[in-house]
Amino acid sequence: MNFKEYIRVIEDFPQPGIRFKDITTLLQNGAAYKEAIDEIARFVKDKEIDLIAGPEARGFVVGAPLAYALGVGFVPIRKSGKLPGKTIEADYSLEYGKDKLAVHDNAIKPGQRVLIADDLLATGGTIKTCVNLIEQLGGEVVGSAFLIELTYLNGREQLPAGKDVFTLIQY
Ligand code: PRP
Repeated sequence: MNFKEYIRVIEDFPQPGIRFKDITTLLQNGAAYKEAIDEIARFVKDKEIDLIAGPEARGFVVGAPLAYALGVGFVPIRKSGKLPGKTIEADYSLEYGKDKLAVHDNAIKPGQRVLIADDLLATGGTIKTCVNLIEQLGGEVVGSAFLIELTYLNGREQLPAGKDVFTLIQY
């Protein structure tokens, strides 16, 4: 399947000069959404993954169905102030802005093998922060998987060497 056909590019959103890759057009097509998740699942299924972690919000629409497909648990990594239990937090920079991510401090047990899933690898700031949080809890980051990679932003360089990175669509 040519997944790129299902991505809509919107000029100048959220600010001038940004060509926003809109995944909602892929999500609204049942066959394309299912095949995208199944393709990622095929890539990661033999990696002995215990948990999928996904950053709010678009990481949930990739990570949760992937966890379901693999029959493993899902850990939400949320924007600060959203999770009800005790959390650990980390600051991060985005392609356009700054924020803080948080995860429940008991969400991952030491030694658990975690795959991070998100819709987009841009600067890599979000994924680097997710790695940091997971490793602080003693989790082992097996790798990461994305629908889209903006290769010109070199986000892969933010990931620890030797980790698997799977991206379905590249720009
Ligand atoms: C977007 C996207 C990724 C991240 C990628 O999320 O869903 O998580 O940016 O950018 P990076 O590689 O430069 O960090 P955003 O923070 O906009 O939040 P949202 O999913 O709630 O829209």
